[in-house]
Amino acid sequence: MDLTYQLVKNDQQINSFIKTTEKYLEHLGFTDHGFRHLTIVADRSKKLARRIGLTPKEQELAAVAGYCHDLGNFMGREMHHYWSALIFFQIMQPRIKQTADLATIMQAIVNHDSNHLQTDNKIAAVLILADKSDVHRSRVRQKDLSKIKEDIHDRVNYAVTDNDLLVNKKAKEIILRLTIDTKEVEPINYFQIFIDRMTQCQQAAEVLGYKFILIINNFRF
Ligand SMILES: [Fe+2]
Ligand SMILES: [Fe+2]
Repeated sequence: MDLTYQLVKNDQQINSFIKTTEKYLEHLGFTDHGFRHLTIVADRSKKLARRIGLTPKEQELAAVAGYCHDLGNFMGREMHHYWSALIFFQIMQPRIKQTADLATIMQAIVNHDSNHLQTDNKIAAVLILADKSDVHRSRVRQKDLSKIKEDIHDRVNYAVTDNDLLVNKKAKEIILRLTIDTKEVEPINYFQIFIDRMTQCQQAAEVLGYKFILIINNFRF
C-alpha cells in the first residue's frame, strides 16, 4: 500500500488522535491545531511541493506530513513534534512497507518545530513553510475579545485577516504575504512573536533553493 493523503485523511485512529488534540488544546486555550489547521497545512504543503517542482510522490508525502504533523499535541505541547512522529509511525507501520517513506515523514514532523533545521529533507522544508504560514484570525478559538487582547499569540493571529504563500519561480522566492489589521496589533508585535518562525522559514526555503520573503501590508521584508 502506498502512503497517500487519502489514506491518512480517512484513517480512524489518526482522526481520533487529532480530535483528542483539538479538545486538549481548546481546554488549554490555544489557537487551533485541529482539522482546520491540518487540512490547510496539508493542502498548502502539497501545493507548494507542486509549485517548486517536486515529484508527484513527494507532493503526496508533503500532504501526509501536513495532515499528521500536530496529532500528538494531546500528549504535551513541548515535545509534540516527537509524539506526533512516533504515533504516526505506530499507526502506519503495519500497512506501509516502504520504510524510507515513513522515515521521511517522521523526520519532517520532528523538524517542523525545531529551531535549527539540520536536514536536507525537502518534505520537512515544505511542511515548515506551510505550517508557519497558517497565521489567521480564524485560528483563534477564544471568542471573548477582551481575553484575545490579553494573549499576544491570540492577538497577532486575530489581527491577520488574510494570508497567502506564493512562489516566484523566476526570482527563486517563496513569499508569505500577510494582511494585518493594525488596529488590532502593530506589525512589531508580529515580529516579537514570530521571529523564530521566520528564521525557520528562511532555513526551510534555503533547503529548497529559494529565498524567503515576508510581505506585511505590502511592505517587503
Ligand atoms: Fe506543531
Ligand atoms: Fe502546526
